[in-house]
Amino acid sequence: MHPEIVTSAANRVQTYLDRVMPGADAHPATLHGAMRYTVFGGGKRLRPALVYAGGRLAAVKPDALDPAAAAVELIHAYSLVHDDLPVMDDDDLRHGQPTVHVRFGEATAVLVGDALQALAFEMIASEAGPNVAQRWTQLLANAAGAAGMVGGQVLDLAAEAREEPLSSADLEAMHRRKTGALIRASVMLGASAGTLRDEELEAVDAFARDIGLAFQIHDDVLDVVGTTEELGKPQGSDERQGKTTYVTLLGLATAKQEGQRRFEHAVAHLDAFGARADDLREIARYVVERTS
Ligand code: IPE
Ligand code: IPE
Ligand code: MG
Ligand code: MG
Ligand code: MG
Repeated sequence: MHPEIVTSAANRVQTYLDRVMPGADAHPATLHGAMRYTVFGGGKRLRPALVYAGGRLAAVKPDALDPAAAAVELIHAYSLVHDDLPVMDDDDLRHGQPTVHVRFGEATAVLVGDALQALAFEMIASEAGPNVAQRWTQLLANAAGAAGMVGGQVLDLAAEAREEPLSSADLEAMHRRKTGALIRASVMLGASAGTLRDEELEAVDAFARDIGLAFQIHDDVLDVVGTTEELGKPQGSDERQGKTTYVTLLGLATAKQEGQRRFEHAVAHLDAFGARADDLREIARYVVERTS
């Protein structure tokens, strides 16, 4: 089960997305139906939860954060559709359902990803005030693109194609980009919408970077110890694809400890904030203790 802080963020962002996204019968219906299948098919909505929690730290109301929470989830949803494609991880199950390319075909899956990414930025441009919209666009574009998620995915595929395993420094750098960047941006989308001082924002950013890395370490652990039923995606995908992961590099027990160590490192950056950071602390703990 997910903690209440995550489920309430999930309900909130889903209600918002349902309101602002075109209906499944909008023209062309194959595309819009597949976009809704992708976005409403499941997922923990951890990134939106981090946006709202980052906002709480900076005394920003959830209402003002809905476009950012929705936008980062749309980018994440698109990244999963492409990640599952046969030319990438070649997985046929996501959120306990057939992946988008299995259900709708590969061309539609590519285009669903493209459309979700565009929709994310449209949402920010049309739903957020001009000052914050500019900051959010910059944060999200940087985290999603070549410097972040997409760059990390390229490094992941390049590593898979090599004979020898990645070094731990290269693995960390890859994880920071492919997964860490969007997690980091989620926290910062919320925190940067308030009026925190520069040094406060730096502390939040240090937390966000650590928890982004811890998230992918734990994802690697779950690929080994999770069950397909609970994960809703195929257990053992990394091993099948010959990936270097924290588990292949360090062994299972040490990989788990490394996730825990990163979590402790992350929350230490929040010490100065008191109770305002409780939501971030709780979500951070969940990141390294979750079973799905
Ligand atoms: C899975 O992310 C993909 C990675 C970035 C490792 P999540 O575990 O947050 O995916 P959902 O949205 O909850 O399914
Ligand atoms: C994916 O990492 C990161 C993305 C940018 C989507 P994984 O390939 O490990 O994610 P899962 O395990 O398929 O969810
Ligand atoms: Mg992958
Ligand atoms: Mg994958
Ligand atoms: Mg994985």
